[in-house]
This record gives sequence, structure tokens and C-alpha cells, in this order.
Amino acid sequence: MASKEPTSKLAEGAEPELSGETLANGYFAKDQLPDGRVLIIRSIGPSDKRLLQEGMHHLSKRSRYNRFLTPKDELTAGELVYFTEIDMVNHVALGAILIEHGEKIPVGVARYVVSEEHSDCHSAEVAFAVDEVHQGQGVGTILFKHLTKIARSNGIRAFTALVLSDNQRMLNIFAHSGLAMKMLLNVAGAYEVRLDLS
Ligand SMILES: CC(C)(COP(=O)(O)OP(=O)(O)OC[C@H]1O[C@@H](n2cnc3c(N)ncnc32)[C@H](O)[C@@H]1OP(=O)(O)O)[C@@H](O)C(=O)NCCC(=O)NCCS
Repeated sequence: MASKEPTSKLAEGAEPELSGETLANGYFAKDQLPDGRVLIIRSIGPSDKRLLQEGMHHLSKRSRYNRFLTPKDELTAGELVYFTEIDMVNHVALGAILIEHGEKIPVGVARYVVSEEHSDCHSAEVAFAVDEVHQGQGVGTILFKHLTKIARSNGIRAFTALVLSDNQRMLNIFAHSGLAMKMLLNVAGAYEVRLDLS
């Protein structure tokens, strides 16, 4: 993926105070991988369409299947609009940018979408994708931490996820999050995961 500047309006290095107003302006935070490398976490915006499409080419066929639960090579124009033109309330999407040798490398995306069918308890479905070569280095874990922080400030009480039963890495992130977790194996061989944020 090509290097790209953050688009958030928040100042670099600032720890965002999470209110509806600041989230509407975008989210920006600096974090660190377990090996010490700096990871920038920022909200995704309309100008990220090309970056997201390129990101598909940095995932294996298996990873794309795990993410979309169906064979998928490219995102359609409509999907690119849906995935990047977000409101940071009902649809929150974060990108992870790794700082390596002075270069900014986009390495992952995480999002949640508030579920209409569960509006009574305000739950949201999460989904993740981390570049193949950067998987297993802690990026997904950090993205999940920031997504959880934003969700709590937005009043989300539970996360849900549909995770294929052999996607141990995704399940591990949820299991290690410290959140109360319920898992139900459905007939299609996927776990319906529910995480309590309260
Ligand atoms: C699933 C996915 C998002 C995970 O992201 P990742 O950056 O690879 O995961 P991380 O490196 O943060 O975390 C996973 C590892 O950290 C470990 N970990 C995380 N928190 C931990 C903790 N507190 N203590 C110990 N281990 C921990 C996990 O056990 C896991 O170990 P593993 O490498 O042996 O599996 C990524 O692999 C991916 O994009 N896969 C393809 C798409 C996909 O499956 N999307 C999910 C659809 S919902």
C-alpha cells in the first residue's frame, strides 16, 4: 500500500477527548506495537477509497474470505462509498498506519456499524482486516482497543461479530480483550460472538 498522510483534523499527538463533536471531526491517536513501533490510529474518510481498494490486494484469498465471509477480490464503487463515507456515530471506521523507517504504511482497518435490529440494547457489529504481512504483530489488538473506547463514548453497550470457526486469531483478540464474551456456533460454521461493553 502507498504511504498516506492522516486526514484527521485533530492535531497529531493529541489524545482525543471523546465527545460527539470531536468524533465528528475525526479521530487521531498514537499507539505502540508490543515491539515498540509507533502505530497511528485515525478515522477513515472519503479520500481513503483508493487506499481501501489497494488494501484488498494486500490480503490473501483466505483473509478476504474471513473478512467478508464470501469470496471477494475487489470492492465495488458502492462498497467504497459505504466503507469510507461514515458518520463516526452509527458507522465508525479506523485505519492503522505503521511508522517504519520514517515511512507511513497503512496496515489495517477496523470498523463497527450499529445494528438496527438490536436498537433496544444499542449493539454494533465489528469487522477487521490487517495486511497479510503485518498480521500477528498486535495491529488488530490495538485497533480493537481504540474501537472499544470510541464505542463506549458513543453509548454502545455490546459488540457483535460473525467469525468463522477456524479464525482463531480474531477469536483470540476478543478473548484477550477482558470483555465478557458469548459465542454461539451457527449452522453455517461461524461463531456469532457477543461482547459486553458495559
Ligand atoms: C483477524 C485479524 C484482524 C487479527 O489482527 P492481527 O493484527 O493479525 O492480530 P494481533 O496480532 O493483534 O493479535 C493476535 C495475536 O495476539 C494475541 N494477543 C492479543 N492480545 C493478547 C493478550 N492480551 N495476551 C496474550 N496474547 C494476546 C492473540 O492471542 C494472537 O496471537 P496469535 O498470533 O498466536 O494468533 C487479522 O489477522 C486479519 O485481518 N485477518 C483476516 C481478516 C479477518 O479475519 N477479519 C476478521 C473478520 S471479523
